[in-house]
Amino acid sequence: MREIEIIRKLLEIYNKTPKHDGGYILGSMTTKPDSIAVYAYNLFIHTNAGDTKIFPAIEYFSKEIIDFMSKLYGKCTGFVTSGGTESNIIALYVAREKTRRKLIIAPETVHHSVIWAAHLLGMEIKNVPVNDNHVADARLINQIVKNKKDDIAAIVITAGTTEWGTIDPIEEVANIAYRYGIYLHIDAAYGGLFIPSFYSKGYIKTNLKFFDGVSSISVDFHKNGLSPIPSGLILFRDEELLSYARRELPYTLGKYQYGLLGTRPGGSVAAVWAVIKKHGLEGYTTIAERCLDTALYLYEKLSKINDVIVWKPVLPIVVFKHKTIDSENLLDNLLSHGYYIYRAPSIDGLRIVVMPHVTREHIDRFIETFMKILKEEAGQNNNG
Ligand SMILES: Cc1ncc(COP(=O)(O)O)c(C=O)c1O
Repeated sequence: MREIEIIRKLLEIYNKTPKHDGGYILGSMTTKPDSIAVYAYNLFIHTNAGDTKIFPAIEYFSKEIIDFMSKLYGKCTGFVTSGGTESNIIALYVAREKTRRKLIIAPETVHHSVIWAAHLLGMEIKNVPVNDNHVADARLINQIVKNKKDDIAAIVITAGTTEWGTIDPIEEVANIAYRYGIYLHIDAAYGGLFIPSFYSKGYIKTNLKFFDGVSSISVDFHKNGLSPIPSGLILFRDEELLSYARRELPYTLGKYQYGLLGTRPGGSVAAVWAVIKKHGLEGYTTIAERCLDTALYLYEKLSKINDVIVWKPVLPIVVFKHKTIDSENLLDNLLSHGYYIYRAPSIDGLRIVVMPHVTREHIDRFIETFMKILKEEAGQNNNG
């Protein structure tokens, strides 16, 4: 194929591919990357973050990223990963290597990547039930830790659960981890860039930082950070923990590498640096507030619809269901109208994640379609 034909074909396929700013992608935690991040990514697309001797720019970007995160969460170290899954795998690998133990204590709301990580690493998860607000119960965790402390490799909690956007009691669990000397990993892949802003504004009571007892935090820049996929971060409280994530690669100039991948996209590191420089703490607070405002707008609209049950969002995720119409029906019907909504499996419901690309206009159009679908479904039920 000639390049011009390839381009024509690519554009043909691209034009049929959903775009975030169309307002139909309402369930996924992906968003439209910032143009400056795309520029940075493309400029450094040839670089390998796994070899900072050839590409010292990556070391420069990484250092500045860590400096920014240290301002946000307190002094820490770490590196850019391919996302939350890789970050969680690495955190649990470090916990296993450091403790030589295999038991993970985690609330039942923990992301699937943690279960996957445990499986890959030959570790075992003990799930802790959550309370009615879908939040981990620190007292239950304390009891388990007290009884099993000599077997536990790590406690994992979530700062922004995938289904509900709720935040586990970070400070209380950090206290437990500190008291018993247990590794605590916080999965903040989704909520990591929102929580400090909402805490500083007084919207939530829980902050996210390296409290005593916190060993590592994962946070994704390809979610609310506006960096292209793949852009995640794994952060450790000190160099000693980080050293467990390092492996030797003697034939390279750098002699060692971090993370799961060998060759790693340097473009991601440049992109994360670029979005941090553009938005900074203030910019991320503005984005966070806009998402929450839109989520509350959606919540208000859904609460006014007869027979729809909707939960007030903590972070900008709105969970809802209809009292009589099956969510799978609604999902299929919404899909046929072009909407990509995700499930809230624990209640057989639906959920909308208000990412930075979602606007009030998108919500208005969604509500209009949703009401139309409900009317049609009700009509069918009456007729049938
Ligand atoms: C809380 C949480 N952790 C981890 C992940 C996995 O992140 P990724 O898909 O970037 O690997 C997600 C993805 O939605 C998540 O919500």
